[in-house]
Amino acid sequence: MPDQLRLISESSPDYETEAEAARREVYSDRLRAYLQDPDFRATEGFPIGEDEDILALSDPPYYTACPNPFLSEILEQWQAERVALRAELGLPEDANGGYHREPFASDVSEGKGGAIYNAHSYHTKVPYKAIMRYILHYTEPGDVVFDGFCGTGMTGVAAQLCGDRQEVQALGYRVAEDGTLYEGDKAVSRLGARKAALVDLSPAATFIAYNYNTPVDAAAFEREAKRILREVDEECGWMYETWHPHCDDPNRVKAKINYTVWSDVFACSECGGEIVFWDAAVDQDHGLMRKEFPCPHCGALQSKRGLDHAWETIFESALSNPVRHVKQVPVLINYSVEKKRHEKRPDAIDLELIRRIEESSIPYWFPVDRMPPGDESRRNDDIGMMHTHQFYTSRNLWTLAAVWKRSTGTHHRWLVFAVMQRANKQHQIAISRVGGEKKNAGGKTAGHRRGTLYVPSNQVEFSVFELIRKRLRVFNKISTTTLKKDWSAITTQSSCKLNVPSASVDYVFVDPPFGANIMYSELNFLWEAWLQIFTKSEPEVVVNKSQRKDLLTFQNLIAACFLEFNRILKPGRWMTVEFHNSQNAVWNAIQEALQRAGFVIADVRTLDKKKKTHTQVTAAGAPKQDLIISAYKPNGGLEARFAREAGTPEGAWDFVQQHLGRLPCVVTRPDGALEVLAERQDYLLFDRMVAFHIQRGATVPLSAPEFYAGLRQRFVERDTMFFLPEQVAAYDRARLAAESVAQLALFVDDEKSAVQWLRQQLDPQAGGQPQTYQDLQPQFLQQLHQASHEELPELREMLEQNFLQDEADRWYVPDPNKASDLEQLRRKALLREFKSYVEGQGRLRKIRTEAIRVGFGDAWQCKDYAVIVQVAERLDDAVLQEDPELLMYYDNAGLRVT
Ligand SMILES: C[S@@+](CC[C@H](N)C(=O)[O-])C[C@H]1O[C@@H](n2cnc3c(N)ncnc32)[C@H](O)[C@@H]1O
Repeated sequence: MPDQLRLISESSPDYETEAEAARREVYSDRLRAYLQDPDFRATEGFPIGEDEDILALSDPPYYTACPNPFLSEILEQWQAERVALRAELGLPEDANGGYHREPFASDVSEGKGGAIYNAHSYHTKVPYKAIMRYILHYTEPGDVVFDGFCGTGMTGVAAQLCGDRQEVQALGYRVAEDGTLYEGDKAVSRLGARKAALVDLSPAATFIAYNYNTPVDAAAFEREAKRILREVDEECGWMYETWHPHCDDPNRVKAKINYTVWSDVFACSECGGEIVFWDAAVDQDHGLMRKEFPCPHCGALQSKRGLDHAWETIFESALSNPVRHVKQVPVLINYSVEKKRHEKRPDAIDLELIRRIEESSIPYWFPVDRMPPGDESRRNDDIGMMHTHQFYTSRNLWTLAAVWKRSTGTHHRWLVFAVMQRANKQHQIAISRVGGEKKNAGGKTAGHRRGTLYVPSNQVEFSVFELIRKRLRVFNKISTTTLKKDWSAITTQSSCKLNVPSASVDYVFVDPPFGANIMYSELNFLWEAWLQIFTKSEPEVVVNKSQRKDLLTFQNLIAACFLEFNRILKPGRWMTVEFHNSQNAVWNAIQEALQRAGFVIADVRTLDKKKKTHTQVTAAGAPKQDLIISAYKPNGGLEARFAREAGTPEGAWDFVQQHLGRLPCVVTRPDGALEVLAERQDYLLFDRMVAFHIQRGATVPLSAPEFYAGLRQRFVERDTMFFLPEQVAAYDRARLAAESVAQLALFVDDEKSAVQWLRQQLDPQAGGQPQTYQDLQPQFLQQLHQASHEELPELREMLEQNFLQDEADRWYVPDPNKASDLEQLRRKALLREFKSYVEGQGRLRKIRTEAIRVGFGDAWQCKDYAVIVQVAERLDDAVLQEDPELLMYYDNAGLRVT
């Protein structure tokens, strides 16, 4: 620790220099003044909390437990530092001109585990090691990285550790003397920390992020934590004592409880007698849960589903009221004598001890807040757990409150935060390890059910002392003194509206919430109650019934965030969106939101964990896995020219020129084959060009045949992909060296994908050959996964509308001129079909999606937005949400219909 550093307070391991302390005081005063300002308090996503609590938790200017009013100042300062650093490193003054990167995808789960990752858990978390690869790929030292859904702040940790030689080497990069990083013999980046601006709506998240990103003196931290534990042990240690082997044994010795298992008690549906769930339903010899079990009193066969809980009413001094809750009893104690572990049924003294604790009033503050409205947050109402303190046993609550009170340093509160989930009644026992084959295969405690507030019928009451001691051992392995407080700026607010200057960040990495998967504000409530600062859930990006947010609201909220990310990102720079796809509709909402915000998607990939390869995602129906979306903000020149040339062929080709320049040239698979990149193929380039126009409110200046013909004139074609002239040499070189070119895997579920698939089979350029109907038909049927609403034309009709036949009855891909004639005919047929939809009435259940796509495109060109909205609203919601193109037209037309 440098000499000039001093501890913030006697009992705290958080340290700072004299200058930092003085600065903090000045900024605290400024923050106090801001808090008096009603306009400032009206900032979107301002958390719910009192000024004093916000001030006590904040460490301004770099971290505030409310919107950070100093963010602009910090970003300006960082910009100046960046310019100076670039000069020092001999890099060009402004990297934008010379900045070029291809999309990058790497395993987003790589690097799970390890002390830093494990120090503090969260409902979902991207390991910092995985993020480091992205940051190293897209940025240079001194650049500013932004994460608008930062959660635990892993992006900040990753940005800072890009300057840590050991961490970077551990990722497999070779670091040269001058700081250049090599992968093999290819120079890929430079060693050097990047700065990070981190945003989250949840005060619990930013509190965790702040502590992750702030240096701590590990030795002072440990000393103080142990002192606190000793003090609390003197006061509360008796609560975790038991007699070994039994209280009545003449040779009994005192032992320390590791954990106690509790069981719900039910009432028999026949005789009303009490059934202790653990005794009746758990087969402890075999480690199994019985589906049916006899009542111990009357022998009637029972199952959990058919049973009602037994209830008891207790006067709760914390609420000054009698409270009715489900009866629970301790059934097993796991304890240690010296280092040896034992188990026993609680004896008379154990039960007496628990009674005594429950009847005492806890001499410290602890949160008693009512759980907020929400399916997850109120899921335990019906077992009588309605307030935050009811999630803990009296013993653990008392001990936690005692430690919390003494933890004056923010890092110690963080340590307590880190054990709260495991210290509460959500902690479950792994029944399969109670007995049977797995009995000795590791511990029996299984943590909580992730992403939920589920409370099991058999709960583990883990000793708070044990939990903190274990966590301390993990914390001690982290040496965070290489971090610097002024390298990350953290704010608690909504990303839908940011107080960050435009074009002020160099790269965005985000891992947004995905639909209805995890209710962050509901889950974080249990943590936030200890801070007494709560998430303002209105702008929370989520699908949530009690917040009345459906998929469309989710899409609008996330679009607002992406719009802000686009605004603050420098032109020509990249954003990576890590997204766990569990529902196609949510994935389409995200794609649409990205494009609406002005981003252009250049690559979507998913990781095949078994083969360790990244597969491109080419269809709307993406697999239900982690997706990595690489999107860029078109450079300022293109947007400015487009504003002048919107709707002209020049504008369209200008876009294609820039887009091709940003796509990868060569992707080699692990088996040595070159990958055909869908993004470089004509149909996807056409789709991207159309989307670019629609999202900017412009008409599309080129029909598909005109586009395809122009593409061939202007760019170079190889293996059905298009390249800029200056890119093609690199591809040709790789092509010569490659084993083969791998065919693109297509998912055929509608007419559009069916025609693409047929093209692949028939086009020699794509590795296919002319074929007869009889050859094609069986293969086609094998590929087809037709959606239920899809009125798919017969295979023969699709062949006739898109391909030509030779004398030997073999279908082949026509040359561009003939293709154009065919396309005109096909369009006419599709528009006729669309007209019949427009003229019809009522719900459109069975449709030819291609007819709707072409019809919407045509209506857009005629600015007949009302027709799009009218037809779209007669489709089933799921059809719209599952088709990105229809969704795009509907969304944009909707904005233009008054
Ligand atoms: C998937 S998590 C991010 C986890 C993070 N990558 C990590 O490694 O810890 C998504 C986060 O988005 C936050 N969030 C939801 N709506 C938000 C909004 N409107 N503005 C900012 N953050 C929001 C949630 O509080 C949650 O912490």
